[in-house]
Amino acid sequence: MSQAKRVTTRTLQEMKEKGERIAALTAYDAIMGNLFDRAGIDVILVGDSVANVVQGHETTLPVTLDEIIYHTKAVTRGVERAMVVADLPFMSFQISADDAFRNAGRIMKETLAGAVKLEGGKENLESVRRMTAAGIPVMGHLGLQPQSIHLYGGYRPRGKEEEEADMIVADAMALQEAGAFCIVLEKIPADLASQVTSSLTIPTIGIGAGAGCDGQILVYADMLGLTIDFHPRFVRRYDSFAERALNAAGQYAADVKDGTFPNEDESY
Ligand code: KIV
Repeated sequence: MSQAKRVTTRTLQEMKEKGERIAALTAYDAIMGNLFDRAGIDVILVGDSVANVVQGHETTLPVTLDEIIYHTKAVTRGVERAMVVADLPFMSFQISADDAFRNAGRIMKETLAGAVKLEGGKENLESVRRMTAAGIPVMGHLGLQPQSIHLYGGYRPRGKEEEEADMIVADAMALQEAGAFCIVLEKIPADLASQVTSSLTIPTIGIGAGAGCDGQILVYADMLGLTIDFHPRFVRRYDSFAERALNAAGQYAADVKDGTFPNEDESY
């Protein structure tokens, strides 16, 4: 049995109360989930960004609920301490509260996830209430909502105009009242994110939302420098994995071709 104390909704709430920042990353498989868990990441999100990072799609829309379940099962096998959160993908929660409830229930029943996440505000309140009442922790997601990319017409920051900023504040309050335990704030002005964070009792986790949130999340492939042509301002690259993988694979190919791999020590 594991000795690691699992991160729960309560842990995150206490972290906010003590002013301890929450470190979150995405992961889509056991090997990365395990590394990030060992590194002390508190929340691991099996994001619908799996569509971009793993499946090679341009948007997050194509990923299915079955695929999220598959990836969440893989991640949870590698994770002992972090809370694993599974994203509800496009069209798994928008049709009706019944549908959303059933699909969130499938995630909780078929994987070892500790929570689900869904994009949107007021339109989801009934779903959030029903999930919470049934014991399913819900993480909200406001600001830039990648599932609505065709409606927005691009990935520009949200909440720059007063009307939209007010809506984000109101949605955040409404999600909290409906029972959400945490809210992701994506690509909104830092001042607005700080305002939302200080008006809520539940934690916020920002991505491109400045330092005033209770925690931060990045897509792991961006943070490790695996994505070659994606350099948004909000990503800090902590490594250059793409370059290192290219060099390593190139060296391996050269060694195979000139016969220096495998050598005697690498043979039976
Ligand atoms: O799918 C995802 O990776 C996300 C994060 C950007 C928060 O929703």
